[in-house]
Amino acid sequence: MNDVIWVKIDAMLNFNGRRFINNHETLIWAVKNKNCKNYTFNFELLKKMNGGEQMKDTDWNFAICRGPERLKDENGMKAHPTQKPLKLIQQVLLTASKKGDLVLDPFMGSGTTAVVAKALGREWVGIEKEKKYIEFAQRRIKDFIIN
Ligand SMILES: C[S@@+](CC[C@H](N)C(=O)[O-])C[C@H]1O[C@@H](n2cnc3c(N)ncnc32)[C@H](O)[C@@H]1O
Repeated sequence: MNDVIWVKIDAMLNFNGRRFINNHETLIWAVKNKNCKNYTFNFELLKKMNGGEQMKDTDWNFAICRGPERLKDENGMKAHPTQKPLKLIQQVLLTASKKGDLVLDPFMGSGTTAVVAKALGREWVGIEKEKKYIEFAQRRIKDFIIN
């Protein structure tokens, strides 16, 4: 359907001067087959979120995950190297899912998708191969307070 670009505000600099900064990631929005008509695209909600203007851009600007949102391990180090910002995943789920839908994240990492799904009233299934990340994700999902 679309390639969406997450433009990473405050992306990590690289100091060796041998390549560009990796300051974006690509999100692929796809349907199972090209005849699929009943996919979710919450046009009106997105418009409202965009101050009444149609949201049409495929480049989304969100800061990298940092500050209190960033999970730390027992040594105060980042618990997961690529924890995604809650706001990015929120925009994904608000765009393409409805309350009660089931969201699958086969690369769950620190559990960001599950936390957002829970906050937005979606069901979720997560898969992760690293035990330490599963444990962080489980704690995070359990403790998450929905404001
Ligand atoms: C980019 S990270 C996901 C970050 C996550 N969105 C977050 O906010 O924390 C990808 C994760 O997929 C996991 N992973 C990679 N290959 C996997 C596999 N074959 N099965 C399950 N998990 C896998 C990695 O261990 C890593 O935690």
